[in-house]
Amino acid sequence: MTATGEENRYLTQSSDKVPYFYPKNKIPVGIAYKNDTNKQIPSLFNPLTIKNLKLNNIRIGVSPMCTYSTAHDGPDKGKSTPFHLVHYGSYAVQGTGLIIVEASAIDPNGRLAPEDLGIWSDEHALALKPVVEFAHAQGVKIGIQIGHGGRKSSRTATYNAMQRGIGKAEFGWSDVPGAIVGPSPINYDEESFVTPTELSVEQIQDLVQKFGDAAKRARDISGFDFVEIHGAHGYLLNSFLSKTSNKRTDQYGGSFENRIRFLLEIIDVVKDDHQPLFVRVSGSELAPQLEGSWTIEDTVKLSDYLIEHGVDVLDVSSGGNSSLAERRKTGQGFQVPLAKAVKDHVGDKLLVATVGKITEANFANDVIKNGEADIVLVGKAFLRNPALVWKWADDLDVRVKHTNQYEWPYYYPPFK
Ligand SMILES: Cc1cc2nc3c(=O)[nH]c(=O)nc-3n(C[C@H](O)[C@H](O)[C@H](O)COP(=O)(O)O)c2cc1C
Repeated sequence: MTATGEENRYLTQSSDKVPYFYPKNKIPVGIAYKNDTNKQIPSLFNPLTIKNLKLNNIRIGVSPMCTYSTAHDGPDKGKSTPFHLVHYGSYAVQGTGLIIVEASAIDPNGRLAPEDLGIWSDEHALALKPVVEFAHAQGVKIGIQIGHGGRKSSRTATYNAMQRGIGKAEFGWSDVPGAIVGPSPINYDEESFVTPTELSVEQIQDLVQKFGDAAKRARDISGFDFVEIHGAHGYLLNSFLSKTSNKRTDQYGGSFENRIRFLLEIIDVVKDDHQPLFVRVSGSELAPQLEGSWTIEDTVKLSDYLIEHGVDVLDVSSGGNSSLAERRKTGQGFQVPLAKAVKDHVGDKLLVATVGKITEANFANDVIKNGEADIVLVGKAFLRNPALVWKWADDLDVRVKHTNQYEWPYYYPPFK
């Protein structure tokens, strides 16, 4: 029977964010309700405006995490698949404040592994559009991390490496002359990384343009709400920052200002008048014994330049640029002190995100409440539980809006 007339009043409206029927979420998923007892909303569920972007009363984000789940070769190489829709959709449907899609290569040679996601062509950006649309149907904000692996490109997907041990990339392109590039011909480690070819100034400028193009297509074709530049973990941009990996004598090496030049040039082409720009750096290289290693003092100094160049959020991670670095610590929020050092310096001039072993709602809430960072990003705890926001809302005794189809547990049986 076709519903007509009176019955139509009871038909659900569809979201206009997706090109298929999806029950419209009239208020964004994840938004915290003022609850009956009129208790104060915990800091973790407070709103945050980043340039034109309003986070839905929630400071919790999915940290970028490579999934190595695209075709190695052929026409679909590097393109998003239904897996990515399911994977990122699972965070979106659970009302995460913001999602940062995994490091996506701006150039095929800059993939970390053959199965890495890419955004080096318009078709790649188009393949990501359904992921963005689905997030938007929930009212969830979604961005993408764009990057180049530099001397750590062409590796083995971490799930293979974990199972089989990391070897020199067996299936990559590291044996193609000139394909693996870096600031200087210094490898990450002798045993399992190839020595990169030093980039010429012309090649650096070409890569700057490729970052700019990737960001533009992420916004204009995929529809992402923001872009994050990957300047951490020893990948191309990080390796320019540190004297341990950058021994250049031209305008991209030597002084602090020269080593940060590549990153700043990229920021200048990537930034947008309307959308926020995130940058992730390793707050410290964690190798104090190495002369010229990047330190938290360097990151604090860099933050002034980032403000000047229009960055909105500095996402502070650590490590990854030196095989001789200290192992990252294991405690909850072990990188929070790095974020706090930046936050104490920048105040309201720059938003700061922290990440790293944050697994408990109260801890995350305190980070925001104490002003140590503005955003809490979470990686592995989201892999364990895509409904982490719901769990943390329960833990902090706050009611959040769920997507229409998932509201049932509040009503039948009402367990919370
Ligand atoms: C499977 C996996 C893939 C990752 N891929 C990326 C990535 O693409 N870009 C990035 O900046 N960090 C990446 N990371 C680091 C995470 O974003 C995060 O900073 C790190 O896991 C620490 O946070 P956690 O303890 O909450 O997982 C990855 C981590 C994991 C576990």
